Amino acid sequence: MKNLDKYVEENKDRFIEELIDLLKIPSVSADPAYKKDVLNTAEAVKNALKEAGCDSVEICETPGYPIVFGEKIIDKDLPTVLVYGHYDVQPADPIELWDSPPFEPVIKNTKVHPEGAIFARGACDDKGQMYMHVKALEYMTKTGSLPCNVKFMIEGEEEVGSESLGWFIERNKEKLANDVILISDTGMIAKDTPSITTGLRGLSYVEVELTGPNRDLHSGLYGGAVANPINVLTKMIASLHDENNHITIPGFYDKVDELSDDERAKMAEAPFSIEKYKEALDIEDVYGEKGYSTNERNSIRPTLDVNGIWGGYIGEGAKTVIASKAFAKISMRLVPNQDWQEITELFKKHFESIAPKGTRVLVKPHHGGQAYVTPIDTVEYQAASNAYKESFGKEPIPQRSGGSIPIVALFEKQLKSKTILMGFGLDSDAIHSPNEHFGIWNYLKGIKTIPLFYKHFTEMTKK
Ligand code: BES
Ligand code: MN
Ligand code: MN
Repeated sequence: MKNLDKYVEENKDRFIEELIDLLKIPSVSADPAYKKDVLNTAEAVKNALKEAGCDSVEICETPGYPIVFGEKIIDKDLPTVLVYGHYDVQPADPIELWDSPPFEPVIKNTKVHPEGAIFARGACDDKGQMYMHVKALEYMTKTGSLPCNVKFMIEGEEEVGSESLGWFIERNKEKLANDVILISDTGMIAKDTPSITTGLRGLSYVEVELTGPNRDLHSGLYGGAVANPINVLTKMIASLHDENNHITIPGFYDKVDELSDDERAKMAEAPFSIEKYKEALDIEDVYGEKGYSTNERNSIRPTLDVNGIWGGYIGEGAKTVIASKAFAKISMRLVPNQDWQEITELFKKHFESIAPKGTRVLVKPHHGGQAYVTPIDTVEYQAASNAYKESFGKEPIPQRSGGSIPIVALFEKQLKSKTILMGFGLDSDAIHSPNEHFGIWNYLKGIKTIPLFYKHFTEMTKK
């Protein structure tokens, strides 16, 4: 595409400034205190899409946060790309672990990003990656090189389960009709090793509450004579894995899609250094399910993890007390064929069955979603692969990711089109963690690669 790299290089300072402005709005969807900011972010995205060349942009109300929808239809007979992204972000806490305030973006150099990286909550997940698509559209409209139709659907509830998006899709299938869905909300292997995400894990998220006695008790007067909810809950949680780190919930693995030896061998060819992995996390060794490699453990195998646990006295000093209740939040990452609602049921049944007499357990399901995996012998994947080849000068590696974007499986079911996951983040970008950042090189490379997908996809599918 003519002048693509030149256009991006000439406008990069403005591209960075615009993203920084967007990152200043704290669009935390999980916390109602930020409601106004989330709504203002939708407004900002709407304006950005208009500026970039969409013919029409609207803020579509839903039972939850609105969805920004924009489109530019140049010819009904040409293919249509539907871009999905999210403008909401994860909560910033623990805020004291940030080196600079999460909503006051700063550019700093890192070992991985000597060209600089923007530090802010949402820099990589997903404002920065979503905004690459807005700027790619700007390039294509300003230079008259948009080869097909484009629609944007940017939501504000991804980090809390995308409930309204399901609602919206169901009611707007016509409006959302497309030939391919394009998403940048994942990562790539390394700056010199482009990859395309071909799988996402599903999710079942539950909260558990264990009740013992009807009130908090003196731990001397009652200790040893009644069930201590914290002791019992931690024991129950520990029993969910056996000595091989297999999950012990009956039926949990029944439907798991096992990979063939060939597929596993192919996976193992992807460049990966266990030494660098350990070093980056400052751990002496990795840990996980027996019989599987680290890359398998975090992509093609299901998992169960406690995300938070609380109860009893955690203030200054000591208080001798047996709490009446203990709590935990637990996530299960799922793989293709496991049904998240079925797994939630299996968990509930099992967890209730292992609670000892003298305690009561309550399992509260939160949200979830199905896993996703896509073949690579499709025209959609080949078009994406060609775009990477042209942009990076090498073939991208297909790679299944451990993260979840639950809505992707639903897209395919409801909209009947394939999804391409073109992620430009790196594992070291600390998404969901303090000091989240997005490399400026990655940001600009994304903007330089996306238009090439439009080009190849249109050439390969045009009637
Ligand atoms: N963008 C992430 C998912 C992701 C990141 C996938 C990197 C692959 C590589 C997304 O915003 C996210 O955080 N999803 C949640 C699930 C959601 C239901 C809260 C997740 O994976 O925890
Ligand atoms: Mn995301
Ligand atoms: Mn996220």
